[in-house]
Amino acid sequence: MISSNDPVSRTRKHASSNVIAIDGPAASGKSSTAHWVAERLGYRHIDSGAVYRAATAAAMHSKQVPDLWTEEIVLASAASIVLRERGDSFEPVLQGVAFEELIRGLDVTHNVSRVARMPGVRMWVNDTVRAAAEDYDVVVDGRDIGTVVFPNADLKIFLVADSWERARRRLTQRLSRRPSDAEIAAETELLVQRDARDAMQTVQASDAVLVDTTYLTQEEQVERIVALAHAVTQRASDTSPR
Ligand code: CDP
Repeated sequence: MISSNDPVSRTRKHASSNVIAIDGPAASGKSSTAHWVAERLGYRHIDSGAVYRAATAAAMHSKQVPDLWTEEIVLASAASIVLRERGDSFEPVLQGVAFEELIRGLDVTHNVSRVARMPGVRMWVNDTVRAAAEDYDVVVDGRDIGTVVFPNADLKIFLVADSWERARRRLTQRLSRRPSDAEIAAETELLVQRDARDAMQTVQASDAVLVDTTYLTQEEQVERIVALAHAVTQRASDTSPR
């Protein structure tokens, strides 16, 4: 527990659990950074975007085309999704089957923002994420974790990077080779469009630490966040009654 006076501790069932929220725009490296930070601190990692992606993938199995999806259709399709523990993280599972490849595919990426704009779907994802976090110290990544899902998180990070650099990294990961400038330009365009579609739900908390990763390596950004987490813990132990 960071501090007995901490409001998070009082609102959570397990008074000893800590939450680190990592938010930011598309492909800013939230998930991979959250994964490594969680590993370094011995926390669990929850990727909230994967739950929105899973709901989108489930809706694709419905008979309706995406333009005609309603909140009811998406929620009915998503009803059989559970977040299953997998090592130190969680994976969305649909009727017992993990579907990582599908949820990262282009069709899901193209349609996920329309699903994420549905208020009932957001409530369902938030409840699913909070339930998974209940018993653990967690690093949760998304877009509204520090503002809506865990407004009392112990540490909030807002991760940003230049859009060209975000596109370059996402393509390098997807293609496993160095992308050409033309490929990066096309991917940048898609990312900027998705940023615009997600603008409403991507909110930097007023007390979040802004980390610009454009010129940082993965290791450097992980180090920086781990150091901030240690500083929070240190501050809490300095101020707790002896
Ligand atoms: O591809 P990227 O890592 O940027 O996104 P993601 O974290 O996999 O999230 C996929 C989509 O879910 C986003 O484009 C948002 O529409 C939505 N999302 C959201 O609205 N709120 C969150 N807390 C997390 C994701």
